[in-house]
Amino acid sequence: MPTNRRTILVTSALPYANGSIHLGHMLEYIQTDIWVRFQKQNGHQCVYVCADDAHGTAIMLRAESLGITPEALIADVKAEHQSDFNGFHIGFDHYSSTHTEANKYYSELIYNRVKNAGGIAVRTISQLFDPEKQLFLADRYVKGQCPKCGVDDQYGDNCEACGATYQASELKNPKSTLSGATPILKDSEHLFFELGQHTDFLREWTRSGRLQPEVANKLTEWIDGGLKSWDISRDAPYFGFEVPDHPGTYFYVWLDAPIGYMGAFREWCDANQFDFDVVWGPDSDAEVYHFIGKDIVNFHCLFWPAMLQQAGFRTPTGVNVHGFVTVDGRKMSKSRGTFIKARTYLDHLDPEYLRYYFATKLSARVEDIDLSLEDFVQKVNSDLVGKLVNIASRTAGFIHKKFDGQLASTLANPELVTRIQAKAPQIQAAFEAREFSKATRDIMALADEVNAWIAEVAPWQLAKSDDTLAAVQPICTTALNAFRILVMYLQPVMPMLASKVAQFLNVQSLGYDTLDQILVNHTIRPYDALITRIEIRDVEAMIQPDETASAPMQQISDKANTESEAIAPECSIDDFAKVDLRVAKIVAAAPVEGADKLLRLTLDIGGGVTRQVFSGIKAAYQPEDLVGRLTVMIANLAPRKMKFGLSEGMVLAAGPGGKEIYLLEPDTGATPGQRIR
Ligand code: MSP
Ligand code: ZN
Repeated sequence: MPTNRRTILVTSALPYANGSIHLGHMLEYIQTDIWVRFQKQNGHQCVYVCADDAHGTAIMLRAESLGITPEALIADVKAEHQSDFNGFHIGFDHYSSTHTEANKYYSELIYNRVKNAGGIAVRTISQLFDPEKQLFLADRYVKGQCPKCGVDDQYGDNCEACGATYQASELKNPKSTLSGATPILKDSEHLFFELGQHTDFLREWTRSGRLQPEVANKLTEWIDGGLKSWDISRDAPYFGFEVPDHPGTYFYVWLDAPIGYMGAFREWCDANQFDFDVVWGPDSDAEVYHFIGKDIVNFHCLFWPAMLQQAGFRTPTGVNVHGFVTVDGRKMSKSRGTFIKARTYLDHLDPEYLRYYFATKLSARVEDIDLSLEDFVQKVNSDLVGKLVNIASRTAGFIHKKFDGQLASTLANPELVTRIQAKAPQIQAAFEAREFSKATRDIMALADEVNAWIAEVAPWQLAKSDDTLAAVQPICTTALNAFRILVMYLQPVMPMLASKVAQFLNVQSLGYDTLDQILVNHTIRPYDALITRIEIRDVEAMIQPDETASAPMQQISDKANTESEAIAPECSIDDFAKVDLRVAKIVAAAPVEGADKLLRLTLDIGGGVTRQVFSGIKAAYQPEDLVGRLTVMIANLAPRKMKFGLSEGMVLAAGPGGKEIYLLEPDTGATPGQRIR
């Protein structure tokens, strides 16, 4: 036990119960799991909880379309998620759901306390309502003509053609995407969390050293822009918790989702006779950390701390934000086969390869992480097989064949082992600070040192003659002691490798309390290959482009439709011939000041002609990733004057919107200016 034993609660974001876990999600669970395993390895009391995020309209509608109850749907999805997490050795202490009694209890408790403190306002609002489905329509379930530019087929919040933002009720000719019916306006009472009351508190909280600097800066911008009230209720029918004093009104899924961290922890407390208030009470000196992706910062760093504070609970010690996973430098894509589900990966490759690879890429910064498939194969083979495991594979055999599995009574190079032990504080500091790429680099540098020494003393030469054979035993003993410590350092990243090594070296554990242990006069067990090389064909087999993915509208996502889109009225070949579609090369891409959703694209359409186009794809692409790519544009669209300048055409893309927009790309061989027929 360390003298300063910490009590730490750690969470990862709760995955939606309406889709499968993919490698983008896995970055977060792997990052969190490494940090948690590191804390446990140091003897701290660290509890890691998570849950499925089970509420909301999308889940209700999906269950309905499958002809099952939402309860049955979320039970199936939870089982699938848990089996994926197990496959990647994510060591949750408890995995729950937001649809539990415990979560209902804390949701009501927090709501009641906030309400009693004057933090809730009730207002009547008018929203679009589907008279056929008898359902209020969230923005993503309404489509119509943009009130600004008139382009058809736009969602209820913003126009992807001109970038305008508006209320769903402003759409012209609105249609429900669920039934095709024309929605009507209908009033209902909604509950609002008065976030503005907490402006001073949040200004201070976000600057109190709990957040990464880039996150704190973004939040300051939002706070400076003024904090708006937050609508925390939804009208029936809704799959969620009914608000105690408002029959027919439900808590919005994002209200009870973070409270799900408490619900899950409460269940863990009950199963382990632990006092909930030790962690969540207002005077707690335990630590609480949430690991999340950059897309959900507002929920965790504004609404959540403000509510906790108003409800008399402690607030998180830290919120650790990571960036998004790209594959080979691009957003994960179904059509390219790089939208890799956790299960697909597990069908082809060892989960510890990915754990190691992500670790070599992760830092404490909010950067996107590229899974470069070639680099992945290269790094795993060269670091894990070529450096680390190589130490054991070239020395263990001698101990077994020549010395009956017995380690020597002394080390040939005690200084080498001491040097490796002395790196512990530096490696621990890197893990603690979530600088996993630094930790793995330090560990591999030590492995290089050990390999260089082994090559120099060449035990395989000494083993050839009986005169020198005796020297082989302390050499291999030194190498295996070095190996033990390196694997101990890497244990949070590769827990299965570590447990195989503990077995082979015949030791109980690889906790930091064993750092100073030296194995001499000790029997080891037979050596089996600890890890095998990755074959590029296994990676290729995993990348299976999904031919059906060209219709991302059908994708199951909280933001997407649950039904496919109707085909538009017939258009004659003459009508079609009027549209001049061209291959265009994106030569520049930049954000547009004052426009949240737009990028300004400069397109080369051949013959020295360039066009400027504003496109609502900012949430989906980093400008720098677009430069140099080919796409397809409508070259003869009447230019439109926008607030930001002239838009001289339109680029083609598909997807439900937001982050999920996929630019069309011509096949290789196409060149800028070619007309599409
Ligand atoms: N249900 C909410 C979270 C509620 S937390 C109280 C949610 N779910 S999610 O399934 O969409 O995402 C779960 C986590 O995975 C989020 O932290 C999200 O940022 C992360 N990621 C989802 N796709 C990702 C990548 N492509 N790359 C990295 N992280 C990604 O949001
Ligand atoms: Zn528009």
